[in-house]
Amino acid sequence: MFKPLQIAPSILSADFMHLADDIALMERAGAALVHVDVMDGHFVPNLTMGVPIIRQLRKATDLPLDVHLMIENPLRQLDWFLQAGCHVVTVHAETLYGAELDQAVDRIVEAGCLPALALRPRTPVEVLAPVIGRLHMVLVMSVEPGFSGQRYHEGSELKVAAVARMARAVGNHDLLIEVDGGIGPATVGLVAAAGADVMVCGSAFFDAADPARALAEVRERGDAARLAALQGQEGPQGFSGPKGGAACR
Ligand code: DX5
Ligand code: ZN
Repeated sequence: MFKPLQIAPSILSADFMHLADDIALMERAGAALVHVDVMDGHFVPNLTMGVPIIRQLRKATDLPLDVHLMIENPLRQLDWFLQAGCHVVTVHAETLYGAELDQAVDRIVEAGCLPALALRPRTPVEVLAPVIGRLHMVLVMSVEPGFSGQRYHEGSELKVAAVARMARAVGNHDLLIEVDGGIGPATVGLVAAAGADVMVCGSAFFDAADPARALAEVRERGDAARLAALQGQEGPQGFSGPKGGAACR
């Protein structure tokens, strides 16, 4: 069954002096999630926001919070985030060693949040293998994490397709694939056709003259590409392409 793409505007590109207005704008525009980019100045060069802002966001909106942790040693601070009102909690594969990967997923699930794992552009999809069967979402970075407004790395759609194949191979048919970085009307079709379900939009939403219109355009183009891919894969045996993508709450 076909389900529409979910759009997750990233508040990294919002106006922090008027954050409540920008959250209301996201709600009116039909955003599915609020994407929150937490950066520590170590894992990535930039330093952004943390737990106090997430707590305030939780009170300010009913939209689910999609928290992208770009921090070193996330296990050290994970409990703070898990108690702050996050819905999806994404940790980076490059910050977890050995058994830590399983531990991070366990702790996110035990706290009642949804576990997701992010991959930098050069990180191979094979690192997902130990946990992909029990993840809610995989975040494919289509730029080097750290800043909004960067150009989409061409070929990221191949990684999306590889993640979709891996998920099917282990029977995780509900896994969502999120793409983050340089996503807008010109790039959404590529990744949507490859099997992505959730699009992070920073500058494409907040820098647009009409953000609601921009969000609708991204969704329309992405949905059209998903539908075309789905129809192309429908054979006599039935559909085996991108899954519907259950809503994140
Ligand atoms: C980058 C962040 C992104 C960023 C996306 O490290 O993870 O979420 O805000 O911004 P755009 O959509 O402008 O590339
Ligand atoms: Zn992000």
